[in-house]
Amino acid sequence: KRTIKLGILGLGTVGSGVAKILLETSKNINQKMKKKLELAKILDKDLTREREIEVPAEIMTDKPEEVLENPEIDIVIELIGGVNPAKDFMIRALKAKKHVVTANKEVMAKYGSDLLDLAEENGVDLYFEASVGGGIPIIRSLKESLTANKVEEIMGIVNGTTNYILTKMTQEGADFADALAEAQDLGYAEADPTADVDGYDAAYKLSILSAIAFGSRIDINDIYLEGISKVTQKDITYAKELNYVIKLLAIGKEVDGKIEARVHPTMIPNNHPLAAVNDSFNAVFVKGHAVGELMYYGRGAGSMPTGSAVVADVIDIARNIINDANGRIACSCYEEKELKSINE
Ligand code: NDP
Ligand code: HSE
Repeated sequence: KRTIKLGILGLGTVGSGVAKILLETSKNINQKMKKKLELAKILDKDLTREREIEVPAEIMTDKPEEVLENPEIDIVIELIGGVNPAKDFMIRALKAKKHVVTANKEVMAKYGSDLLDLAEENGVDLYFEASVGGGIPIIRSLKESLTANKVEEIMGIVNGTTNYILTKMTQEGADFADALAEAQDLGYAEADPTADVDGYDAAYKLSILSAIAFGSRIDINDIYLEGISKVTQKDITYAKELNYVIKLLAIGKEVDGKIEARVHPTMIPNNHPLAAVNDSFNAVFVKGHAVGELMYYGRGAGSMPTGSAVVADVIDIARNIINDANGRIACSCYEEKELKSINE
């Protein structure tokens, strides 16, 4: 096949970044691939709205079947967000034997296991690098580069919106609501930002990371969860006086054969590397039995950084198609194991 055709579902913040990378750097990508990647269709529900990016009108559609059941399309990129209709669209695409790339942590945390099984049954790939850490290649690292390790601990700042809010409150004395509104304007927040502020987004990401790192699925309800809505300027000032900063941390640890999984605001000493992770940046610490400690750092949200991770997945799948090697990074990560959350 000379050309690999792509369909995007959802031309919002991330969809625009992905379309921009594909349309503006296609020559570069195609040279690397020695095959042509073509953005063939984009689905969105409102075709009249002004977008961050100009795309050829003829590739826009508001009819899901023109992407999901389009025989020409090889890879479907789901960037709608939320559970429905995103999950149903992913199921339709997989059943139509299309490879799927998604940035959707909620769907992957809640239904990833079933969707990965469905992908395998249909002989196609389902990749989800952008679902955790925006532009940071953390999923690929855990699955590939660190695969020799027994992971003992994962800890990090995995939500850009709350980190942006806490940074603004700490450095500028900003009001919570104003900082949240800025994070929304910058495209960091979820469509419903309570998912960010109340810690659910970080919990979805921790569930995905734990599944890969510890080989054990963690139900979202088993994660101890506390968001940042109760963090006040007073807390931040007290922390400052003690040479600490407050960050929302997601922590997964193996303790006595069980997984401890929690998300909550944490006081971090100013000289700790995580204290310097500001704005929408994310950072993830991983401790492996052989490699020791590693820290991954980068933009955890936003159109282009997230687009970078999505397009990397697309290119990986395209390479698999070219080499007839689908499922190259076959994922044993969602198998059930004996490990259980200590919070159940
Ligand atoms: P947006 O809300 O900006 O984009 C979603 C787009 O999908 C909007 O254009 C929306 O239209 C459209 N849409 C909604 N429902 C439908 C439908 N039924 N059919 C067709 N189109 C539809 O979200 P983001 O781009 O921010 O996020 C997309 C995904 O990426 C989410 O899963 C999110 O969690 C994830 N993600 C986001 C990051 C970020 O920095 N923003 C980073 C990493 C992951 P309308 O606006 O009219 O509803
Ligand atoms: N709303 C998410 C965040 C987007 O703020 O981190 C990136 O997953």
